[in-house]
Amino acid sequence: MEVDLHTGRFDEVEAEALAVLSFEGAPDAAVDAATAGWLKELYDSGEFSGKAQETALLHRPAGLRAKRLLVVGGGKADEFTPAEMRQAAAIAARTLQSKRVPRIAFAPGADHAAAEFASAAVEGAILGVFEPDRYKTESKKDDKPVEAFSLVGGAGLRDAVEQARIVAEAQNFTRELASEPANRLAPADLANRARETAAACGLECEVLDRDRMRQLGMGALLGVAQGSAQPPALIVLRYAPVLRYSPDQSSSADHLALVGKGVTFDTGGISIKPSAGMEKMKYDMCGGAAVLGAMRAIARLKPAIRVTAVIPAVENMPGPNAQRPGDIVTTLAGKTVEVLNTDAEGRLILIDAITYAIQLGCTHLLDAATLTASIAVALGHHRVGAFSNNDQFLAKVLASAERQGEKMWRLPMDAEFKEQLKSPCADLANIGGRWGGSITAAWFLREFTADKPWVHLDIAGTAYLDDAKPWMAKGPTGVTVRTLVDLASNWG
Ligand code: BES
Ligand code: ZN
Ligand code: ZN
Repeated sequence: MEVDLHTGRFDEVEAEALAVLSFEGAPDAAVDAATAGWLKELYDSGEFSGKAQETALLHRPAGLRAKRLLVVGGGKADEFTPAEMRQAAAIAARTLQSKRVPRIAFAPGADHAAAEFASAAVEGAILGVFEPDRYKTESKKDDKPVEAFSLVGGAGLRDAVEQARIVAEAQNFTRELASEPANRLAPADLANRARETAAACGLECEVLDRDRMRQLGMGALLGVAQGSAQPPALIVLRYAPVLRYSPDQSSSADHLALVGKGVTFDTGGISIKPSAGMEKMKYDMCGGAAVLGAMRAIARLKPAIRVTAVIPAVENMPGPNAQRPGDIVTTLAGKTVEVLNTDAEGRLILIDAITYAIQLGCTHLLDAATLTASIAVALGHHRVGAFSNNDQFLAKVLASAERQGEKMWRLPMDAEFKEQLKSPCADLANIGGRWGGSITAAWFLREFTADKPWVHLDIAGTAYLDDAKPWMAKGPTGVTVRTLVDLASNWG
């Protein structure tokens, strides 16, 4: 989708459709005036009241150059934040796409002319029109994706529009990757996509193969991989800021690691999952895909901090060589783990990736993973679970999430939970029993962070939608991409 900024008046925009906002309580005065009172009549009719998610479409609106006018409800005007703007713009773009309108414009209105609102509107439109339909050959013939989106606003918004486009396209890249089924995206394919990304965006890329991982001693990752015919890959992408010698552009000495779970399919292994819903385990690489998407945007936006992505990519399968419950593996960190459940594989691959990131010199560790079903029991599909050993680093991550409208919630990590991971025959067991499953999983990771500032984001409940929303297609959401990019961009 082409994105541009239209700096003229909204009533002079020539587009197939112009979308505008109007809030609860009263029709938007500027739109009402431009349409000779049509909007007030619409409110008076009771068909539209300005509530969030409401829409109304008018053809050949008198007073406007656009061929159609779509009014989108903004909800309560005083509660309207960039997050609501993102959603409203997404609803506008999705609604018009469903009506096969190819070129659209969106006017946020004079009260929402700030850069944060402009960015959110552009992101919303780009995210809203995404459909995970690349393998449809039949019905696609009739579908018309929106080709062009114009934001109506002041010339000062140019950078905001461009940055928003970069970030939202990175998020859609993540969603596209996450939608790939496991027969089309094995660990080696994910590694190739990382290599392509590196070549396209100017990042360094290195992929460790099984032999190299064996030499290094990544027993936990290799144990998970050994049941599959698909070889594992440990993907490393490096971004380094160009040194600038002006005092206000100094680069940080900090080095951020972004670690993403890349299980291209999770059958559970020998501790096999029930068949109902198992197809969704193609999404078990959403953390890795989010990290890869974030790196694309980071490479383009060039923040002042070093960022290294580490994505352990494996397929978790039962098979003649699969690891068995009770096996004991030796991790890269040297600790031993008793694998009581082969379905708790994410934490096993992540600990070797985290240790590797520490060996590479990373000073701050952030991981994103579809780690536990229990995070959805705790927080539903509405919030990402956040865990940390460092209040300051977590505060930074939560501030980024807040700015980006990605809802997160911290869960506690009291020492009692760690007790649940005791094993009589190894340093740790890989599961901690039924209760507090997300917390014991987080504790398992924390045992490998060597006391470096660390944040773990459990996205098992939020990485994909089981049903479409008015603002987003069914399937992967690309959650955490915006937060990760924001974190690197505003490291300070
Ligand atoms: N990939 C799953 C977690 C998951 C579940 C993601 C549902 C998305 C939706 C993970 O590898 C897993 O199987 N976790 C187990 C851990 C248990 C065996 C301790 C779980 O959460 O049930
Ligand atoms: Zn699993
Ligand atoms: Zn998994």
